[in-house]
Amino acid sequence: MFRFGRFAQSLRRYRVLAIESSCDDSAVCLINRVENEPPILEDHLKLTMESAKDGGIIPIDALAHHLEKIAVVAQDVLNRNHRPKIDLVCATQGPGMFSSLAAGLQVGKGLAVAWNVPFLGVHHMLGHLLTPRFFPNGPKYPFLSLLISGGHTMLVFSKSITDHKVLANTIDNAAGNALDKCARHLGLEGNMLGKVLDEFTKSGDTAPLPAGLEFPLPLEKSHNGNIKTVAFSFAHFSSLIPREAKKHKFDPVAEQPEAFRRSLGIKIQAAVFDHIVRKVDLALKHLIASKELEPDQEIDFVCSGGVAANSVLRQKIQTLNSPLRLKMHFTPLQWCTDNALMIGWAGIEMYESGFRPDLEVIPVAKWPLDEFGS
Ligand code: KG4
Ligand code: ZN
Repeated sequence: MFRFGRFAQSLRRYRVLAIESSCDDSAVCLINRVENEPPILEDHLKLTMESAKDGGIIPIDALAHHLEKIAVVAQDVLNRNHRPKIDLVCATQGPGMFSSLAAGLQVGKGLAVAWNVPFLGVHHMLGHLLTPRFFPNGPKYPFLSLLISGGHTMLVFSKSITDHKVLANTIDNAAGNALDKCARHLGLEGNMLGKVLDEFTKSGDTAPLPAGLEFPLPLEKSHNGNIKTVAFSFAHFSSLIPREAKKHKFDPVAEQPEAFRRSLGIKIQAAVFDHIVRKVDLALKHLIASKELEPDQEIDFVCSGGVAANSVLRQKIQTLNSPLRLKMHFTPLQWCTDNALMIGWAGIEMYESGFRPDLEVIPVAKWPLDEFGS
């Protein structure tokens, strides 16, 4: 996909304008990069499409949102920073919604052409993975990353910017997608339903749940068996609440008392995150068994992506009884969900690793991380 070149990164000090538009956020940022110094985020602006009433993100509406907003967001960021000189433009190339990606890429390319500066298309999940390296004392290669968002759930072992091995992936939908569906079944409303569910479960009374109401974890047979591949699965969680409501006669769920719905939400969150933690634990054991890592070895561990903002998940991951000594790097809350900082920073890492700028890049809707850079 990318070609390395001897592209001369002669700039010791440069400013990046980055655009993120893979889903429903039109985001733009400015990062000032001075070699051997911590990068400075000069500005960041994000406009998220209003989709609470639609029950999900409709691609054509997301496209209209980006067509309307990205140029305006870029203009606002540039104007309020006194139109600084830009030396590199980056935009998300994929994975994501093709049309949303195209809208951001084209604005980015247009600006790069007008300013006669290099342009780089950036892998969205690489952005989530590298975000903690923007901040002081970030992870160093090789490191592990648990990336959990609305579209992806995976555990990745990264040895360099172009060497990523996906140790575990979801076989159906993503954790964020399942949590969003559960939140909707519980009668919650909002744009970012996983976050709404997180807040709902933290505040207020709870009530007893029916006896015998159990949320079994998926893929447990393979967990105990001897199979080499480790996988996540969330489809089972997406439909769990209506299924159990019929069985235990609390249908319609959305009309149940708030305290009861809160208890259900707590239980489902715990089940989703227990499933993730069990699979991470298994994947780490495989890594040791295959001699990639030594038992008790210290290794950096990133937790990033929208769902990584969840307090229950953070607590469960932190207390994971791992065969390795995990040095945790949680992406700061504000930068867990989609943003332009992650794209600008990943673009900087690509640029400084010798990725060749390219105006011909086109959106890539599905783009496995282990194919990045090959
Ligand atoms: O990374 P992201 O912004 O977009 C994708 O790349 O998919 O992740 C969005 C997902 C949504 O499913 C949203 O509900 C979920 O992250 N999310 C959360 C929390 N904040 C956002 N899920 C659980 N707890 C949160 N605090
Ligand atoms: Zn994302």
